[in-house]
Amino acid sequence: MIVYHAMHYKIINTMNHRKMYFLSIILCAVLNASAQSIPEWKMIHPGIWKAVIGKPDAMTLLSIADATPNLEAMSKLPRGSFPLPQGEISMSVVDHKTYLRFPLGKGEQLYGLGLNFKNVNQRGKIFNLHVDHYNGEDNGRTHAPVPFYVSSNGYGVLIDAARYITVYAGTGVRTDAKNPPELMDRNTNKKWSARPYSDAVEILVPADGVSIYVFEGPTPMQVVQRYNLMNGGGYLPPKWGLGFTQRVPTLYSQSDILKEVQQFKEHAFPLDFIGVEPGWQSMAYPCTFEWDKTRFPTPQAFIDSLSIQGIRANLWLNPYVSPVGTLYPKLKPLSGSHTVWNGIVPDITIPKTQQILKEHFLKQHLQLGVSGYKMDETDGYDSWLWPDVASFPSGFSAEQMRQVYGLKMQQMTAGWFKEMNKRTFGLTRASNAGSSGMPYVIYNDYYDHKDFITALVNSSFIGVLWTPEVRASKTAEEWVRRIQSVCFSPMAMLNAWADGTKPWSFPEVEKAVQDVAQLRMQLLPYIYNCFAQYHFEGKPPFRAMQLVEGFRFSTKDQYMMGDQIIVAPMFAGEKTRTVYFPEGKWYDFYTGDFVGENQPLVITASLEKIPLFVRDGGIIPMVPPHFHAPAPGEKLALEIRHYGKIPASIELYDDDGISFDYEKGMHSKTQLVVTKNEKGELKGNMIRRSTDKVFSYKEDVVWKFMTAK
Ligand code: GAL
Repeated sequence: MIVYHAMHYKIINTMNHRKMYFLSIILCAVLNASAQSIPEWKMIHPGIWKAVIGKPDAMTLLSIADATPNLEAMSKLPRGSFPLPQGEISMSVVDHKTYLRFPLGKGEQLYGLGLNFKNVNQRGKIFNLHVDHYNGEDNGRTHAPVPFYVSSNGYGVLIDAARYITVYAGTGVRTDAKNPPELMDRNTNKKWSARPYSDAVEILVPADGVSIYVFEGPTPMQVVQRYNLMNGGGYLPPKWGLGFTQRVPTLYSQSDILKEVQQFKEHAFPLDFIGVEPGWQSMAYPCTFEWDKTRFPTPQAFIDSLSIQGIRANLWLNPYVSPVGTLYPKLKPLSGSHTVWNGIVPDITIPKTQQILKEHFLKQHLQLGVSGYKMDETDGYDSWLWPDVASFPSGFSAEQMRQVYGLKMQQMTAGWFKEMNKRTFGLTRASNAGSSGMPYVIYNDYYDHKDFITALVNSSFIGVLWTPEVRASKTAEEWVRRIQSVCFSPMAMLNAWADGTKPWSFPEVEKAVQDVAQLRMQLLPYIYNCFAQYHFEGKPPFRAMQLVEGFRFSTKDQYMMGDQIIVAPMFAGEKTRTVYFPEGKWYDFYTGDFVGENQPLVITASLEKIPLFVRDGGIIPMVPPHFHAPAPGEKLALEIRHYGKIPASIELYDDDGISFDYEKGMHSKTQLVVTKNEKGELKGNMIRRSTDKVFSYKEDVVWKFMTAK
């Protein structure tokens, strides 16, 4: 730099203005060129390649997530070579911004690029990835604007920067494009399009450099698996986290909540945890994180009386600290320049801030037995969150803090529970790349049933969990349809914070609502297995059809629950819907009857049932209806269903369901095997390993062959 300035000075003194101008252009070009580098791809994990261009930021999404990759699981995935033509990837740093370009093939489709609600196919879209509430448009402003895309050609690209990243996902056309769009005359050619074909993804990162990761497949599912495994594997929730949860109205007191629990019993409705909304605190918006003495005079007794009944408490919060709380003076010097609703914004990237919060939260909540948090408002609305001109004591910019705040809250709070060897399962409204292993599910206030399902589909590409929460409905039909969907999602939640609704709020469908909640409870062994697969193999528990090998249709309102079950939710006002079946034969979950294979099919569904289909050879372990997820040591009867005609086997995963002891090998993997004899008769066999100690089921299992009659 110094050399350049000296040269420049000498030269301009001896030249006229015109020459000076041209010389400056040449010097600039030389300088920019020197910032360009030919990416050097290094394989850092099996099938995952990394390139670094320029000087990446000190803080990135992955550095905040701080996950330990599961190398062993990754090494079991099939290996190929670098999945893109390296010569067609270009990168440069110009004017403190990083420019990236990746090739796209004809017919190639792109998935991911944040938690989108409208579409699954993202090719041809422009995103400005920015942590924000979702406001009805897939434009990059969303709760988890994960800068990761999965190609239908079987590779993935991740940009690890805590920045507002712009992605032109196949829109821009360069003069030197390898596959330019066809030239057309709009006057005469009806095929002319204002959005011409583009053969590249181009990305602008407002930073002096960035780390980029490319993931091999060969299938889109294996790309997602590698991504999740690099981020530690998906989170394995506690068993109770997969039961039903009710969030109570904001100003409910501890006695109101205990009464509500009683009502759940009277209505014979399952309940595993209660969500306590803002009123538990002495002040909210901003928050004190201290119990309100009038509504919650005896927090320990309250938590204990829930616990005796097998129920846990999850506390709502937002991270903005109220001046009237005891945390305020301690955190004031460690907070940002701007307030949110008069609360300070603690700089949670600083270890001292983390320590102060930890001491307070442990003493006030975790040590009392609080099971988790709902971390609200970390996504923001620009009009009340800290603005981009804010500063933070760590020196990280407002933009960087915006991109990581929700992620860091997850990582920090997850660590507290882990230290206590207790699994938690909560809610967050903001997340980002690297969060696969976080014990949090994303939710929001946007309340479109169909879009909620598309979000569930899209969550599976980007390593996040999403719940299509239920709050209120205009009709009984809508109510039951929404409850059915949420019972087939990562968190079966009714969020009654504003409406005071109960599962039985529409008496005419109370039975149907109860049935589907119980069906979820019956399916817990299967659902737990799906999450174990998420953790150990990186396969999302609820996933897009596009992740099923050989699936050739385009759909955004049906999805897979694990390997075996297609979920096709119904929406109010609709009596029929189209279901797209992948290859292989598919059977009705309820009757075992054959339905379809490798085809779209219009199905009719009764109000009482959510359409579910099981693949040929699907083995579904189930337990009897029950009100709480099993406690450690509790043994439930096992009914194992088999669908279709072909022999099959699965592994049934189990552990204590509450601690991290499974990481030390305290778990079991039991083989459930169905064989077929010469007469074509099917027979089930459960093969337990003698070394396996934890097993929450009775040994005398019942096999039910749903199809073969
Ligand atoms: C909203 C949140 C709701 C509820 C409410 C309480 O921001 O999305 O689910 O918790 O706050 O005030």
